[in-house]
Amino acid sequence: MQMEQLTALCKRRGFLFQSSEIYGGLNGFWDYGPLGVLLKRNVKDAWWNDMVMNHNELIVPNGAPATYEMTGLDCTIIMHPQVWKCSGHYDLFHDYMVDCRESKKRYRYDHVIGRFVTGKKRGEEGAPSVEMSVFVTTMETENTQVALDEAALKFFGLRKKDADSLQWNGNIQSISKLPSLENVVAPDAKHVGTLTEPREFNLMFKTVIGALGSDDDAAFLRPETAQGIFVNFKNVCDSTRVRVPFGIAQVGKSFRNEITPRNFTFRSREFEQMEIEFFCHPNQSPAWYKYWRDRRFAWYVEMGLSGERLRLREHDADELSHYSCGTADIEYQFPFLQAGEYGELEGIAHRGDFDLRSHIEGKLVKDGNQLVLEKLPDGQPRHRGSGKDLSYYDDLTKERFIPHVIEPSAGADRATLAFLCEAYKIDTAPDEKGQPQERVYLKFHPRLAPIKAAVFPLVKKDGMPEIATEIYGELKKNFSTFYDDKGAVGRRYRRQDEIGTPFCITVDGQTVQDETVTIRDRDTLEQIRVKKDELLNELNERLKK
Ligand code: GAP
Repeated sequence: MQMEQLTALCKRRGFLFQSSEIYGGLNGFWDYGPLGVLLKRNVKDAWWNDMVMNHNELIVPNGAPATYEMTGLDCTIIMHPQVWKCSGHYDLFHDYMVDCRESKKRYRYDHVIGRFVTGKKRGEEGAPSVEMSVFVTTMETENTQVALDEAALKFFGLRKKDADSLQWNGNIQSISKLPSLENVVAPDAKHVGTLTEPREFNLMFKTVIGALGSDDDAAFLRPETAQGIFVNFKNVCDSTRVRVPFGIAQVGKSFRNEITPRNFTFRSREFEQMEIEFFCHPNQSPAWYKYWRDRRFAWYVEMGLSGERLRLREHDADELSHYSCGTADIEYQFPFLQAGEYGELEGIAHRGDFDLRSHIEGKLVKDGNQLVLEKLPDGQPRHRGSGKDLSYYDDLTKERFIPHVIEPSAGADRATLAFLCEAYKIDTAPDEKGQPQERVYLKFHPRLAPIKAAVFPLVKKDGMPEIATEIYGELKKNFSTFYDDKGAVGRRYRRQDEIGTPFCITVDGQTVQDETVTIRDRDTLEQIRVKKDELLNELNERLKK
């Protein structure tokens, strides 16, 4: 599937629109349309139901049986600025960017990729050609070499037919791997060496609190939902009867001022996260880490992502954050990536006691194998913590400890995008006249499908609309249902296939005689007849699968 086909379908059928489109759009911001909002809500509901409500499992980490509890929170987007100072986001949450002096464009340093190429550059105004070796670049794209060929031809002033005169050297790599940017031709530049040296850029959106607010009142839009959970750990322990091990879940908006938002909703500036912070005894945390890693992977498979395109990747030791003894990413082969490349859907991290300790003591840094309070030259903490006791007392074992945290952190928009990519299918199916016709359909898991069933009267007469309207009224009390009586029934089926409706119910002449209707299955195209009275049960059973 080409990404363009999916983005066109998303716009045409109302899944996703560019934000503020009538004003030319706003880069990195997306609106969910009438069907998109249903799809994304289903993704979030499935996650909440499966992770938070359906938690009563008996687990055996390290051989010791344990049930665990899950609870939820809904925290504010703007929090006390000290939260971000202690968490490390204020000092450390940045990417590197480079600016192009010629095109005035800005790029994320590690996202500009390219390859060395040697060729003869046509001289300006009749001057002789000169042989040059440069590093031509592009931004990450589906077919990088094609983009680089074009960039090289443009730079050397050559035509397509002269492409063979170019000599490519080495592999495609990011400019961040080069010793210098001197030989680089920036993605939108005509000249070589126009990129500035990389500079840090904090990804948090800044705002000011209060009408008379000055810079001292600066606050930030949260870049993750996780911190709201950590700072409420004590409130949750004190106000509920949860016992460690337990998890707190939150779904909500996060904001990152990404330097180069791209690839549809994959990297946006405003997005939604579905995060769990799972608190457990330090001795049991490696086992709980494995539990969550495997459980989260299995969830994506259950929801319809195929094994081929989905993978679980354990981080190497040198990739781990300073506080982590294990991190895995769940990754998906999105169609906009190059062959063999994967994009992150979710990270599952063993965070030790880093977060709770940071909010007790202040910003921590690594000193050898220890996490210690970062101090200014005068000995004062760089960022002072809350000083509150965020430890946990186990009244059964009489032990007090700071729980370790396992964090499965997923993106609702990335998951929604992966489900859309995976669902997009093209096959050939007979039309009304029995002729084979290409069919585009979205093969969503029934739990995720925006519309679960569509009801059609075969024709608008002979009592059929009355029966169909009655069925529609009944079904929509139970799940999202669509009514359509316009145009040929074959076309109505295709329209539902294209938005992923698993079942179409048709009221026809026979319904008037014997009170049966047909159910047509989106994937197999099979049609069965059921009694009108048994329709709801039959659909409920099928939607569970
Ligand atoms: N609390 C940990 C945390 O926020 P992260 O890996 O930075 O970890 C978690 O983010 C998930 O949030 C990612 O796996 C991804 O699904 C989603 N995410 C992060 N940045 C995003 C962006 N700019 N646009 C869309 N989703 C994003």
